[in-house]
Amino acid sequence: MDTTSISLLPPPVSTFAQDVDPLFNFLVYASLFFFILITTGVILFAIKYRRKKGAEEPGKGPSHNTYLELTWMIIPTILVLIVFFWGFKGFMKMSIVPKDAMEIKVTAQKWFWSFDYPEGAAAVNELVVPVDKSVKLLMSSKDVIHSFFVPAFRVKRDVLPNRYTIAWFKAVKEGEYQLFCAEYCGTKHSEMLGKVRVVSDREYKEWLEKSSASGEGMTPSDYGAKLFVSKACITCHSVDGKPGNGPSLLGIFGEETKFTTGPPMVVDENYIRESILEPRAKIVIGYQPIMPTYQGILKDKDLDALIAYLKSLSE
Ligand code: CUA
Repeated sequence: MDTTSISLLPPPVSTFAQDVDPLFNFLVYASLFFFILITTGVILFAIKYRRKKGAEEPGKGPSHNTYLELTWMIIPTILVLIVFFWGFKGFMKMSIVPKDAMEIKVTAQKWFWSFDYPEGAAAVNELVVPVDKSVKLLMSSKDVIHSFFVPAFRVKRDVLPNRYTIAWFKAVKEGEYQLFCAEYCGTKHSEMLGKVRVVSDREYKEWLEKSSASGEGMTPSDYGAKLFVSKACITCHSVDGKPGNGPSLLGIFGEETKFTTGPPMVVDENYIRESILEPRAKIVIGYQPIMPTYQGILKDKDLDALIAYLKSLSE
């Protein structure tokens, strides 16, 4: 596959690239060809037929030229028909999910991605898939319209509230690829990023097992520390005292906190629980009400573990 072409496409990592890339390159080269042809014509004719001293007055000129007119109708018609059928072929492939595809549920919300696997594993902002296997994505949004976009896979599809949209792909090369949200969805749209990790079959099975483990054999606080990273809390809340998009959570347990409305409160178990499930109920002074709810994402056991972890940060 030609990746050094002037169209600067990202590396072709999914099977769709064989359909998308040649068509895209064709469009780029055809546009370039006509751009040069027409611009050169305009410049040459402007010089050749410019007004000269002592030149004769322009006559009436021909009113039309049938052959010329047919040419500029037939050539563009052929070009757009080529682009249509070529694009339609690729579009159909993208629309029809192979029967043997594995299914992953994708949930978008302001401003992160969660992925749920049929085996029970779950991840936030990281989609892990096996190489050379068709993957079907069943996607929905909890709030506004987002768009699932992985340039290396040539996959982009809107993710809507109140209905499912479906996309699929088959990655052919192991590696880590960027996932974007490609639909403006509010203040932190540009930070709604994720990774797609394409791994070998064996690594995938190991990852599934590791991510399905629900903290068995771990202390609540250790399990909470794991959730804090895997559920992406850490992207906004530091645990070293540095403020981020949200307040740092170092040493907050048992301390008094002031809010934009209502009286100050001492941080306790119920306050943490409320802040995770109803983040907009109380807003800490100096911060924006931007945290998404984790209702339906965290189980009671997960909440217990996170609370235990935050307590441990105050010891
Ligand atoms: Cu989600 Cu932009």
